[in-house]
Amino acid sequence: MIDMRERVGPVGILTPEEVEEINADLSHYDNNRAVTIEALKIVQANRGWVSDESLQSIAAYLNLSAAEVEGVATFYNLIFRQPVGKKVVRICDSVTCWALGYEKIRDSLKAELNLEYGQTTQDGEFTLLPGPCMGACDHAPVLMVNNDLHEDVDEETAKEIVRKYGYKPQ
Ligand code: FES
Repeated sequence: MIDMRERVGPVGILTPEEVEEINADLSHYDNNRAVTIEALKIVQANRGWVSDESLQSIAAYLNLSAAEVEGVATFYNLIFRQPVGKKVVRICDSVTCWALGYEKIRDSLKAELNLEYGQTTQDGEFTLLPGPCMGACDHAPVLMVNNDLHEDVDEETAKEIVRKYGYKPQ
């Protein structure tokens, strides 16, 4: 049995529930570093994104440097370091999707949502981002809304998809 008390530091702004979830992951690994991405996901699931304060608290709790945790957060593009909307729309901009119509979908959704990449609708509902290959190249072009994958999208179905998630055109 791993003694957690010897491995962890101050909790900072982490909630007791977050600490409990992180501890559950820590119990599976000898190395605190291995838990970094899970800790980031736990905090993001609770707060919607990972602020500097949250990141520093994770680092302190795992006895890692903030730079190490930031490095992991930067590497995984599903960790948001800025506030995002309730629905994050990510359009695959990797090579197959690019070749099969990515730019049309991007332009269609930018116009539909009236957003540039990285922006969020005023009601806090939708954020638009590019994303790397989503593992569905045989059904390119694709996009994701939160964890839902949408395949064989075109500029019209892209608009229909965001409307299904509650977007109301102005
Ligand atoms: S290139 Fe878009 S899913 Fe692979």
